[in-house]
Amino acid sequence: MESRWDVLSAVGAITCAWLLLRVAWGVARGVYVYLLPQARRGSPWLRAQGTWAVVTGATSGIGKAYAHELARRGLDVVLISRNLSKLELEAKEIERLHGRRTRVIQADFTGGLQIYGDIEAQLQGLEVGVLVNNVAMTYGSGVLRKLLDCENPAKITADMVNCNVLSVVQMTRIVLPQMVSRRRGVIINLSSVASLRSIPLLATYAASKAFVRSFSLAVATEYRPLGITVQSVSPFVVSTNMTKHPTPGLLIKLPEDFAREALDTLGLSSDVSGCLSHALQVLLMPVVLPQWLLHSRWGDQILLKVFSWLMDSRK
Ligand SMILES: NC(=O)c1ccc[n+]([C@@H]2O[C@H](COP(=O)([O-])OP(=O)(O)OC[C@H]3O[C@@H](n4cnc5c(N)ncnc54)[C@H](OP(=O)(O)O)[C@@H]3O)[C@@H](O)[C@H]2O)c1
Ligand SMILES: *[C@@H]1O[C@H](CO)[C@@H](O)[C@H](O)[C@H]1NC(C)=O
Ligand SMILES: *[C@@H]1O[C@H](CO)[C@@H](O)[C@H](O)[C@H]1NC(C)=O
Ligand SMILES: *[C@@H]1O[C@H](CO)[C@@H](O)[C@H](O)[C@H]1NC(C)=O
Repeated sequence: MESRWDVLSAVGAITCAWLLLRVAWGVARGVYVYLLPQARRGSPWLRAQGTWAVVTGATSGIGKAYAHELARRGLDVVLISRNLSKLELEAKEIERLHGRRTRVIQADFTGGLQIYGDIEAQLQGLEVGVLVNNVAMTYGSGVLRKLLDCENPAKITADMVNCNVLSVVQMTRIVLPQMVSRRRGVIINLSSVASLRSIPLLATYAASKAFVRSFSLAVATEYRPLGITVQSVSPFVVSTNMTKHPTPGLLIKLPEDFAREALDTLGLSSDVSGCLSHALQVLLMPVVLPQWLLHSRWGDQILLKVFSWLMDSRK
């Protein structure tokens, strides 16, 4: 009898120690990645990766913020998105504010495989140190709907896979060889908190983001020994056109603040939320919105409520 209790209390003690260790590890990692300025790699490290940064979807939201922040830290920037007049405007703005060189490439990432020959040709001869795979689309700003409830499901799902998934793989394929031959370089892939669980009413988007995160982590492991830093960034809500510009605050970040904080974590972890506020939200997610609840029969209703609560704070 006596010895049975001994065994049980030993099991209890080991379990407690294990849980405590996990919590301590999580806290220590959070402090190291987000709160220790001494740990940060700094601009000289970033500039040593190569002269140019390439940002896809660079004319608004998070991509635009990354482009500005990278220029501020001393890199020349290639901006890629669809609208030439927006591209030229943004490029001028970067040159004016940060005094760096810029180039623009007009491309529509819903176009599939055929667009990459042109992008590759235009990047020829540039020493690309940083690639930010940022471009992505949803059903529309703030739109949630079932798979078949779109106007043209065949087109929008193909567009989404081309824009969110194929672009990441192809852009990486284009810049990785020169990075490998120089044994340095950074690839940042914008995933999303939506990659952490499948999300009803955003099925294709969430699955595309899970692809980006899974792909990134695997490639990070493959190319780490060759000096390449790969990071997957999975934000919660950032106030952009995609989310219909909700009012920034404790939970919702401005893109400029987000890009600055996220770039500070570069080289410290290959899988981040990007900022402290979003990291804490990810930590709390299993408590606030557990997987079983999201995938229960009330899942889509609950999601609509959460979303409209977030959107109610819109300006
Ligand atoms: N905002 C959030 O809360 C949030 C949360 C998690 C993850 N993310 C991720 O963060 C990234 C950026 O999101 P965002 O909110 O900044 O988006 P956004 O404000 O909608 O900006 C999208 C950018 O991509 C360009 N673009 C859109 N479709 C394109 C296409 N087919 N071909 C080429 N360029 C295209 C747009 O410029 P043009 O219109 O001129 O082409 C624009 O510069 C995405 O990967 C998104 O999944 C965002
Ligand atoms: C490009 O953006 C400008 C400025 O936002 C807008 O006026 C113009 O209509 C856009 N062009 C296209 C082809 O969408
Ligand atoms: C915002 O997104 C909508 C589509 O959701 C698009 O029509 C519009 O041009 C975008 N606005 C800007 C400023 O990018
Ligand atoms: C981003 O995706 C590309 C492929 O699309 C991959 O090669 C790269 O390692 C990924 N990087 C990160 C940080 O996810």
